[in-house]
Amino acid sequence: MSENEFHKKVEDLPQFNEELYNRIHNSKKYGYNWLDIYNKYHIHDPRVIKVLRIEDSTIIMEKLTGFTLDDTQKLRQLSIEERRYIVNEVIDIYNKQFQFKDKILGPRDIWAHGDFFLQNLMYSDGQVRLIDPESFGKRSLELQETNMRYGKFFETLTKLMCFLNQSYGD
Ligand SMILES: Nc1ncnc2c1ncn2[C@@H]1O[C@H](COP(=O)(O)OP(=O)(O)O)[C@@H](O)[C@H]1O
Ligand SMILES: [Mg+2]
Repeated sequence: MSENEFHKKVEDLPQFNEELYNRIHNSKKYGYNWLDIYNKYHIHDPRVIKVLRIEDSTIIMEKLTGFTLDDTQKLRQLSIEERRYIVNEVIDIYNKQFQFKDKILGPRDIWAHGDFFLQNLMYSDGQVRLIDPESFGKRSLELQETNMRYGKFFETLTKLMCFLNQSYGD
């Protein structure tokens, strides 16, 4: 294992299930290869973690340094300007999902991260990055059938605004 790689064995995750396995392995069932679309998305927004390859049930990705955005202790050491930059970037990363187009996506579809919250965002080398890549998938924006978890984003937004409080972390 190279020291620049982060290996994530999805089989060992508590949230592992057949759907997750199929999503990244069963291109026949879905009609597209998950990694192909993910890689295209990475070109659209390089702030999502780079996936290098998938081996059996292990996702091999670039290894980041830094911390996840639920780390209040680390965040409070940053200047208010840096925290404001993080807030702006997180909102922009979320918004960018709505702008990605691909032939596998219908007019009501989106390629989106299903677990968009502070634990899956990292501040690394002065950049905000979105991790947990296997949470990306094709989702519908149609309210009847959507599996977009908007509530997670609203919660994230609220917590982000707290970053800017004078007394944050006290
Ligand atoms: N590419 C990475 N580089 C460095 N650390 C990572 C990377 N991906 C995940 N981590 C660390 O591992 C933790 C869990 O990763 P994550 O992919 O979010 O797993 P889970 O699906 O269990 O939430 C993260 O909170 C982060 O600390
Ligand atoms: Mg996670």
